[in-house]
Order: sequence, then structure tokens, then C-alpha cells
Amino acid sequence: MNPTPKPGILDISPYVGGRAAVPGMAKVFKLSSNESPLGPSPAVLAALEAARPSLSLYPEGSAALLREAIGEVYHLDPARIVTSGDGSDALLTMLANAYLQPGDEVVFSEHAFLVYKIATQANSAVPVMVPEKTTNQTIKVDVEAMLAAVTAKTRMVYIANPNNPTGSCLNRDEMARLHAGLPENVLLVIDSAYGEYVTAKDYEAGIALVSKFDNVVMTRTFSKLYGLAGLRIGWMYAPARVCNVINRIRGPFNTALIQQLAGAAAIRDREHFWKAVEHNNTWLPWITAEIRKTGLRVDDSVANFVLIHFPVDGEKTAAKADTFLMQGGVILRGVASYGLPDCLRMTVGTEEQNRLAVKLLQQFMVA
Ligand SMILES: Cc1ncc(COP(=O)(O)O)c(C=O)c1O
Repeated sequence: MNPTPKPGILDISPYVGGRAAVPGMAKVFKLSSNESPLGPSPAVLAALEAARPSLSLYPEGSAALLREAIGEVYHLDPARIVTSGDGSDALLTMLANAYLQPGDEVVFSEHAFLVYKIATQANSAVPVMVPEKTTNQTIKVDVEAMLAAVTAKTRMVYIANPNNPTGSCLNRDEMARLHAGLPENVLLVIDSAYGEYVTAKDYEAGIALVSKFDNVVMTRTFSKLYGLAGLRIGWMYAPARVCNVINRIRGPFNTALIQQLAGAAAIRDREHFWKAVEHNNTWLPWITAEIRKTGLRVDDSVANFVLIHFPVDGEKTAAKADTFLMQGGVILRGVASYGLPDCLRMTVGTEEQNRLAVKLLQQFMVA
């Protein structure tokens, strides 16, 4: 008999990222993966240079210099931070690896980030996907329905806040309600990959909850607003007990020196941070309003992307729009794998990218 993987692993649909190229087309605008149109802080280049003499050496294994930089900026105890050199994806996965046993249930919402299901199935646990609430301008996590799905077998709840690809988020009170309804032995994992973009005053990325309770973890990333998706740096803020657990199972040198230095430089450049926030604040409402003028439904978003709905059949479907945009040199993200086959997700790009994408959508709708 051949070696067999754990039950559940062969049920996993491998993650497919946003497309990056169109065959036969030299110049394309990739608005498919929620990357930053501004790129990283210029300070990151100096950090990459600083790592050069040490490439042959193992890095300091706890990523102390990066944890200290994060702690300084967000006013957190560095001892309660764990970093990852394989994105926040790896932290989301390690949490599942550490806390799930076969048959345990993991609750997340219907259109949640795909990695939650993968991490659950990789541990022979059972995904419990909860329907979201739909209004005419949002698809949003239903807190009461999430709580109703919790059983004695539930061990974890994942929630992306804001959620990808819907762009909606729970406010402070809604998240507190979700947490308050969970038994103490259930770990609430708040994935705030897009937290930096949210400007609403009633939003809380998870820091306050993690500081107060032993069963809440918040994960963050350098891939989005900090413009470092290519360097794969993530971090989490967690109770000391959870850090102790993850520090036992993570790779001993899981964050390279180049990642530590680049992350520290990026997070300390608050000017670049605010530039990226302002860029998003300018273009997110513009994109939303302009695409709505074509008659398409665009959901309200608090992140750096919008979800666009297309008719289910006929000449204006999401698949046809996708092809039309690609022929015009713009790549959006089909989100059928998120249970939204009639939608495309568009990342906020540069001014030139945004204007071209909107123009193409206008042309598509009148064609
Ligand atoms: C909700 C959400 N969480 C986590 C991630 C993963 O980020 P990272 O690049 O840190 O692995 C993404 C990336 O698309 C995301 O959309």
C-alpha cells in the first residue's frame, strides 16, 4: 500500500491565486490579488541591502527585531507576537495544526477566505460554513448564525475582518458579541489582513479583544497595505499561552533576516502608511461610484477592493466581463471558489489602472 495522507487532505481544493498574466499581452494591470498599488516604503530597499552581508548565516530565530518594531508601532508586548516568513497564511494554518483534532468542528462564514477551509481539512477537522446576511449593498457575516452553528465539537472560529472577497466588516460591538457567545475553549481567530485600510471609528482590528481574553488571536500581514506581498511576512498578536504553543511548532528560523529588516522598516514608515491609506480613501469611493453608474451592483467595501455583481446569464455575465477586461489588459479576480460565481473582485490600483478598469467596464456594459 502507498503512503497515505491524513483523512481530509485529498478533499482539499488547492488554493489558486489571482492570475498575473494574459497570454500574448506584454502589459497588463493585475488587480486580482489586493496588492498595494504604491508598493513598499522606500525604506525597505535599504533594509534589503542591510541583509546582504548576512545571507549565509541563520537569522535570529525569534524575529526579535521585527517583533520589537511591531510592538513599538502598535503599542504591544513583543513577547505576545509571533511572526511568519510565509505570510499570515502560515499562522492561520499553524493555529489549526496546533489546536485541531480529527472530527473537531471549525466555524467560518460562507464566503470566508479560502485558507480557513484548507487548514481545517488538513487537520482532518470539519468545516462548518455559515450563511452570510445579504442586503442590496453588502454581504456580511451573520453573528447570530455563527453562534448558532457552534456545538460541543467546535474548537475554532475563523473570521476575516474585513472579509475577503465581500469587503464587509463587523464593528467592535458585533465582534465583541461574537466573542461573548463563544465557550472559553473555542479559539476565535480574527484575521485582520485588511485592518489597516479601515477608517470607520467603530472598527477594532482585534487588539483590544486579544489583550483582554485568553481565547482570541489576531493575525496581520505585510502583504497588503505595506506593499510586501512578495516577501511573505505575517504576524500574530496572541495570548502568551497561544504564542507558547505556536513557538513550539513553527520552523526554528521561520522569518528570514531580510524579512525581519524589511518588515521593521516598512512598519516604521508611517508617512508611507498614511499615503497608502489616503490613496485608498480617494480611489475606493471613486471606483464604487463609477462602476455603480454602469448599473452593476458594487458592494460597500471598507478594504482595498470591491466586489462587483454581474447578471447570472445573458451577455453581461461575470465570465464575459472577465474576458473583456483581460482583452483590454486588466485582470480582475473571479471568485467562484468563494461561492460567488457571478461576481468579480477588483483591487484598488493606481489612478491609471483604476481609470482603465472602469472605462473597460463601462464599455462592456454598453457593448
Ligand atoms: C483575508 C485574508 N487573510 C489572509 C491573507 C493572506 O495574507 P498573507 O500574504 O499574509 O499570507 C489574505 C490574502 O489574500 C486574505 O485575503
